[in-house]
Amino acid sequence: MKTDKKEFRREAIKQRDSLSAMERKEKSSLVIKRLMTLKEFRDAAYVMSFISFGSEVETNALIQYCLDEGKQIAVPKVIKADNEGKRLIAVRIGSMETGFKAGSYGIPEPTETEGRIVQPEDLEFVVVPGVAFDTKRFRLGYGGGFYDRFLGGTRKSCMKAAVAYECQVYAEIPLEAHDLQMDCVITESNIY
Ligand SMILES: Nc1ncnc2c1ncn2[C@@H]1O[C@H](COP(=O)(O)OP(=O)(O)OP(=O)(O)O)[C@@H](O)[C@H]1O
Ligand SMILES: [Mg+2]
Repeated sequence: MKTDKKEFRREAIKQRDSLSAMERKEKSSLVIKRLMTLKEFRDAAYVMSFISFGSEVETNALIQYCLDEGKQIAVPKVIKADNEGKRLIAVRIGSMETGFKAGSYGIPEPTETEGRIVQPEDLEFVVVPGVAFDTKRFRLGYGGGFYDRFLGGTRKSCMKAAVAYECQVYAEIPLEAHDLQMDCVITESNIY
């Protein structure tokens, strides 16, 4: 299974990388527009979203929208916990421009966490990245298990919304028992 996932990830990322910058931009804007129409998103006061990296669906406009709308918006940061390995935390941000630095895996993260850590139970809506999804809303990530563990700590009422391009949705993907199902997967042409 580990090798199945590894191979699948490589192929799926290659697929996503093959979209042109223009295609990504256009599709991302459709995905984000679709997400913004969801009642669960409009009603959410505490939102978390990943900061896009590489060929992922672009979330900058969404994060800026949350800031403008006065929603509490948090972004992920990987930290080294004392007793365990690395894990994901949610850090509240006040603007898009300042204080981000490439963290583990080269992904932009806020540096300042003092007084800004949001507990997973407080989140109402989480925008989740991913490498591949199936039509039943299961997810293949980058292989750290970060989101599987983090999302396990959110409330049942918290909406776990993945964003992806349609080319990332497959009939079947390699899965293990700990892989979480999303509440929805939003693409430029569908909501699963
Ligand atoms: N809830 C969990 N508790 C403990 N370990 C977990 C949990 N979920 C995943 N893991 C561990 O994390 C490792 C990677 O998991 P997996 O291959 O599903 O990553 P992924 O979903 O692709 O990554 P990510 O969520 O970071 O994008 C696995 O070895 C798995 O045992
Ligand atoms: Mg997983």
